[in-house]
Amino acid sequence: MSPALVSNTTATPNVVSKAPGARPTSILHRTPWIPPVAVAAEGSYVVLESGQKLLDAIGGAAVTCVGHAHPAVNKALKEQIDRVSYVYNMQLSNQPAEELATLLTESSNGAFELCGFASGGSEAMEGVIKLARQYFHETGQLQRTNFIARQLSFHGNTVATLSLAYHPTRRAPYAAILDSDHFHHVSPAYAKRFQRPEESEADYVERLRAELEAKFIELGPDTVIGFVAETVVGATTGVLPAPKGYFKAMKWVCDKYGALFILDEVMSGMGRMGTMHAWESFGDGVAPDLQAVAKGLGGGYASIGAVLISKRIATGLRGASGLWKHGHTYQGNPLACAASLAVQKVIASENLLENCRIQGAYLEKLLKARLQDPNAPAAPFTFDIRGGGGFWGVEFDFDCPEGATLDFKGEQFAMLVQAHALENGLIIMGMTGGANLQGTKGDTILLAPAYNITAPEVEKIVEIFGNSIDTVLAAHRV
Ligand SMILES: Cc1ncc(COP(=O)(O)O)c(C=O)c1O
Repeated sequence: MSPALVSNTTATPNVVSKAPGARPTSILHRTPWIPPVAVAAEGSYVVLESGQKLLDAIGGAAVTCVGHAHPAVNKALKEQIDRVSYVYNMQLSNQPAEELATLLTESSNGAFELCGFASGGSEAMEGVIKLARQYFHETGQLQRTNFIARQLSFHGNTVATLSLAYHPTRRAPYAAILDSDHFHHVSPAYAKRFQRPEESEADYVERLRAELEAKFIELGPDTVIGFVAETVVGATTGVLPAPKGYFKAMKWVCDKYGALFILDEVMSGMGRMGTMHAWESFGDGVAPDLQAVAKGLGGGYASIGAVLISKRIATGLRGASGLWKHGHTYQGNPLACAASLAVQKVIASENLLENCRIQGAYLEKLLKARLQDPNAPAAPFTFDIRGGGGFWGVEFDFDCPEGATLDFKGEQFAMLVQAHALENGLIIMGMTGGANLQGTKGDTILLAPAYNITAPEVEKIVEIFGNSIDTVLAAHRV
């Protein structure tokens, strides 16, 4: 294992680790190991201090969508620095922010009328929660105080977004301080695990619809602010689209009781699924009342998120305060908006959504051939290969007879594969705990290359990924 990946769990963060090769750091890192340092990046490649060149198959965290160091984005950023790098949004607006908001609303085919900015996904989802409540506060429905979201969801890492989402092991340290009075949860839409053998897809959707309606009735239908879901679940179950008809059914319940239908497209939106909004291709075409976007909005060039606001909400607010009673110091930052605007223009001018769909289909084909061929070592354990556009998840399961031939010695397969791939020049993302409601089982690898990935790069991703899986399996045979 690479020295950079040696566990440093017990080391005090700013003390030189005793682990061989570990470097000193004053950052309180998020990982049990000390991550290597990147010093350069271009296109889909990142270069480390050691000189090692890595192919980024996950865009950091499904963020990098036009690759690194795109000349048009770099130019836009440099020009904006020379114009205006900061103004405060309570005093002054700025050109890139105005232009970006117009682009986001005008390109939505009428789905969105206004836009509010944030500095990332969690901030955008916090903004959504508050704006949804503000809407009912200003339109005279003060009794609406409840949100319904789903188990095995992720909506951010702040206290309110952790309350809104539900993943038992991730929220465990904070459960005692999370709000369980106003945030409630229903089942995930996870057919491969939870659709019953006797159920058709339509039966399963109907069961989930009935469960949501029952939750509305239990809480008092006119107390519900909204139902919130990731259009394609990302950071828990690992790239999980819902069954066909699911979002239509959920929206039907919201409409029946006057509640809002809210989508979190922080990870799956802004082109990631091969359409600008994930609901256009993976959400039954049902536009939400409010939507959060982030990662692909700035493409990694700047920290930015946004709340996209439908006509219903915009009209309600215009008839009342006419403003967003919420904000942050860096909201609508000129540099972030200039970078984001340039990223969105590159996606359009280089026709990258089409490339994302084409290369995504190629990636799916190669993954299935490499991992599910009857002779592939990974075949017995490859539970699912799913996704679309530039967002793919490979879920593994070892609850099968062949699983008895393996012993991971308490380590998690997905994380072993992630580490091995990194050592061999590929960045992927391992995800654990997404396969059961307790959050204790599950090994998924996420792939989310840039929308301008090339066919040879896709082939290289599958080659290193497949070899990493084979090597980890071979090293853990009993
Ligand atoms: C669906 C979803 N919502 C919210 C967030 C939080 O975004 P951020 O990490 O930018 O705060 C994430 C991050 O992965 C996400 O996947």
